This record gives sequence, C-alpha cells and structure tokens, in this order.
Amino acid sequence: MFPVKWCENKQVSAGHSDAVSRVFPAGVSRLVRDFHQQIPGYQISPLKNLSHLAAMLGLGGIWVKDESVRLGLNAFKILGGSYAIYQVVKSMLGLEQQELSFEQLTSSEVRTRLGDLTFAAATDGNHGRGVAWAANAMNLRSVIYVHKFTSKARIDAIASLGADVRVVDGTYDDAVRQADIDSRQNGWQVISDTSWEGYEDVPRWVMQGYATMCSEAQEQLAGQGIVRPTHVFTQAGVGAMAASVIGFYRQLFGADDPVAAVVEPDKAACLYHSAQIGDGQPHSFPGDLDTIMAGLACGDPSPLAWGILRDCADVFLSCPDYVAARGMRVYGAPLKGDPSVVSGESGAVALGSLMFIMERPELKELRERLRLNRESQVLLINSEGNTDPDHYRQVVWDGADPVPGEYMGCK
Ligand SMILES: Cc1ncc(COP(=O)(O)O)c(C=O)c1O
Repeated sequence: MFPVKWCENKQVSAGHSDAVSRVFPAGVSRLVRDFHQQIPGYQISPLKNLSHLAAMLGLGGIWVKDESVRLGLNAFKILGGSYAIYQVVKSMLGLEQQELSFEQLTSSEVRTRLGDLTFAAATDGNHGRGVAWAANAMNLRSVIYVHKFTSKARIDAIASLGADVRVVDGTYDDAVRQADIDSRQNGWQVISDTSWEGYEDVPRWVMQGYATMCSEAQEQLAGQGIVRPTHVFTQAGVGAMAASVIGFYRQLFGADDPVAAVVEPDKAACLYHSAQIGDGQPHSFPGDLDTIMAGLACGDPSPLAWGILRDCADVFLSCPDYVAARGMRVYGAPLKGDPSVVSGESGAVALGSLMFIMERPELKELRERLRLNRESQVLLINSEGNTDPDHYRQVVWDGADPVPGEYMGCK
C-alpha cells in the first residue's frame, strides 16, 4: 500500500468562514486559556524543534507541540473535556455570563448544587480519560464507553480515575450511539467530542478547549521569531482536533492562514472519503476501522468539525499503519541534535506522512502543490505519548508495522 494517498479539497475557500466564526468567536481562545491555567499542574506543553530533520527533508523547520506531557494524562484531550464540562456546569447553574473559577467548579458547594450528576462519554481512550479526570476532580460520577478493540491499558487508565468503563460490542461510532441512548434513559450528561444534529454545544466547547494548544504554540513560535507556521499537518479521527487547529489559524490570519493538511488512517479515512465524494457533506467510512491508530479509528465525521475542514483544509491524506509506526520510531530515535519525543500511534502519523511526502519521488506533485520547501515552517501536534505502553514498545523496540521494502531508505 502506497504511503500517502491525497485528495485536494475542492471546496476550500480563502478568508471568512461562518463555520469557523461559530466555533471561534473573537476572544474565545483567551477565555479557554484563562480556564486551563487555573487547573493545578497546568504548564505550557513543550514546542520541540526538529531542525536537523527539517534540514534533512528540505524544510525550513519542523515544530512539534508535544502533548504527551499534558497534565500528566499523556494526551491533549483533557483540554477539550475539561473546558466542555466547565461550560456545561456553568449553564446548569445559570452562570453563563459569570466567572466560575476552577476552585469553585471543584468545590463541595457546586457539587451539592449539581446533585446526583453523572457525565458520560464514548472514547477511543484519550477523551474518556480526560472526562473521567474532570469528573473525578469534581467528585462526580462518570460512565465511559469504549469499543471492543480498546486495549486493556487504555481501559485501566480510565478506570483508575474512578470511571465506570463499559465495553460496547462494535466500533467507536457504536460506542458514541450507546452512550447517547443510555444517557437519555438515565438522565446523564453526555460530554462528546463529536457532534450530531441537535447536539452541538458540547462538541463546540470541546473544540474551543483544544485551542489552548495553538495559543501556546503561537507564543512559543513568536519566541523563535516565527509569526505563523506556513503549514500545519494535523491528524484526525472525527476531525474535532484538526478543525480546532485549522480553525484557530483561519480565525487568526484569515486568508493568510497556514497551508493545512488533515491526516487519517487509510482504514478509517472518513474526512478524506468525504472530500473525495466532494458534495460538501460529511460521509461515513465503512468497515471495522481496524488500525493501530486507535485515537483516529472513527467512521463518522463530526459535522461541526467537517464544516471548518471543508472551508479551510487544503488537502486530506490517507495513510497505512506503517506510516504512523515509522513516525513513532523517528520521534523516539531522532537525528543527532534534535530532541526525542515519545509519540503514540495517533500522535505520530502526521510526521510520518510529512516525511514520505518530502522523500518519495511519486509525491513530488503533492509536495509542490503544498509549497513545501526550505522556506516552510511546519507545525505538528504530537497528540499523545505512549498511551498503550505495550503496543508502543512493540512498534518502537520490536519494529512492528515495518515500512515495506519498496518504500525504505529514500534519502
Ligand atoms: C491521540 C489522539 N490524536 C488525535 C485524535 C483525533 O481527534 P479527533 O477525533 O478530534 O479528530 C484523537 C482522538 O481521540 C486522539 O486520541
């Protein structure tokens, strides 16, 4: 299987996007950051400079926002779940227009006012862990739905935060539906990272929550004399993270925003598939979504995220598992002088795809269309660390999912 299939976005429009304005009204990323900064243990996640790799590939810079250390939870997802829960609680208490500090949010007074509240979420692992963490911090109950292929390590990590973890016999998308059905029956509050008709407020808050990554990255890049990245490569499951990153930059820079690539596993490429159909609508990807990129194993795009990606993403990429596996190994064993990064399956595919695009002669046209060259400053998000430690070692130590012989050793 060829390392990178690509589909140019025919619907992309420069400048204003209503879909972006709906998720990112002016000033929202500042409010989000103000909230996250109050969480005990909050620190700006590192922005790592892979300058030697960039030079080797013929790029000006590769900057990696390393979310593997975010609040000790090994992934970026807590940013979205915590902010959504904060907004849900504010609206339940009728405090939409008022300040509510993190200390108040987690106080026994708020706990008493909320009564017998339970949060529910479906997850590939990381989002559920974030929701369980936030519920736990508030001394509230959470029920987290995982699909049948979820590894024991991921389930244990969620359960260790006090959540009731339920395994659904199906895919991530089935887990989303089950969480919704059970929540209606039991009066639970669903905190979903994906949207559906009539359910958009919470996923919008989740996407806003992710903006903290980009607002931090902008400060960190400015410290290096870089006003904006020229390119962003973001991996996608339902598309909420990609839409948040790409929407953030569209809102900030308008038509002068970075060239944006959305990267998916070929076994779960719902956004790529939607772009290929090209009717402007999100479309489901068939199959059992059997990929090592557990966090990206989603068959149904989030319509809310799709609106932003349809307006702002330049290209959609679809990659086999070995592209992610190679990215994990490169991050873990960097060139001399570059920092190492612990990157899990879903974290590493964007780097893997970028490397093949720069190396493979067959991808020259894509490279040129994306204007990837020695002037380019590429921003990547390492969205998770070794969230499944056993599988991480199988890939990085034991060489699972090797690059096929015909695509090895390009440079
Ligand atoms: C590590 C990691 N990266 C990326 C994503 C993709 O996020 P989204 O589903 O918003 O596209 C996920 C989703 O769970 C994830 O866990």
